[in-house]
Amino acid sequence: MDVTVALLSESFAESMLLPSGYVSLLRFLVKQYLIERRGLMPHTATLVGFYRGNEEENEGVEQLAGTVEVSFNKRGSNASPPTPTPPKNSPYICNMTVKQPLRRRGIGWHLLKASEELISQMSSSIEVYLHCRMIDAAPFNMYTKAGYDVVKTDSILILLTLQRRKHLMCKKLPVLKNPSEMDMSSSDEEVSSGADIQKP
Ligand SMILES: CC(C)(COP(=O)(O)OP(=O)(O)OC[C@H]1O[C@@H](n2cnc3c(N)ncnc32)[C@H](O)[C@@H]1OP(=O)(O)O)[C@@H](O)C(=O)NCCC(=O)NCCS
Repeated sequence: MDVTVALLSESFAESMLLPSGYVSLLRFLVKQYLIERRGLMPHTATLVGFYRGNEEENEGVEQLAGTVEVSFNKRGSNASPPTPTPPKNSPYICNMTVKQPLRRRGIGWHLLKASEELISQMSSSIEVYLHCRMIDAAPFNMYTKAGYDVVKTDSILILLTLQRRKHLMCKKLPVLKNPSEMDMSSSDEEVSSGADIQKP
């Protein structure tokens, strides 16, 4: 829990351009949030990805590399989701982040594929939604490459509320008989085990 809280807090501070002094406040808020979300399992899950470098890089020690949150249905959905509002009953992916020094190694891609695979197992709905800020090229490229399309975009008036404009994106997941059919093609060799469900 604490390493995930630290990773998410650093990521929020980075995306909101907050000075490092705010990170401890963010940690407190993020921890409360994660505890609240944990109470909604199994309608939602937080996945964590671990990375084990080679001997020279990190003495082969496994470290938390990234995290992502998935909700499967209305009961797991966020009480006040960001705009443009996704359908409440549809699976939704949010709060994805990869530790800065470990980016561009396929970890975000694996977290996304693990989320989709879990959604295929946990939900009968095949439409999965997520948000992406218009200024964030890295996740936007990743989601587009993975087959997500923009279905709606915040009005420019959202800027009056001091928020960034966001896209609501959607992908129709293929109906699979066997989840191992999911496309996991990417740099598999660098990721130890994709993602594990964080136990309560
Ligand atoms: C978005 C994020 C999770 C991607 O994680 P990652 O592990 O670096 O991504 P991957 O290495 O798996 O890259 C997958 C694809 O995403 C795209 N991508 C990732 N980083 C990119 C970058 N800096 N610029 C352009 N495209 C990028 C590419 O299409 C890439 O495929 P490729 O390597 O074959 O070109 C990571 O950049 C991050 O944590 N960003 C800060 C938090 C954030 O923006 N979260 C998303 C909220 S919507």
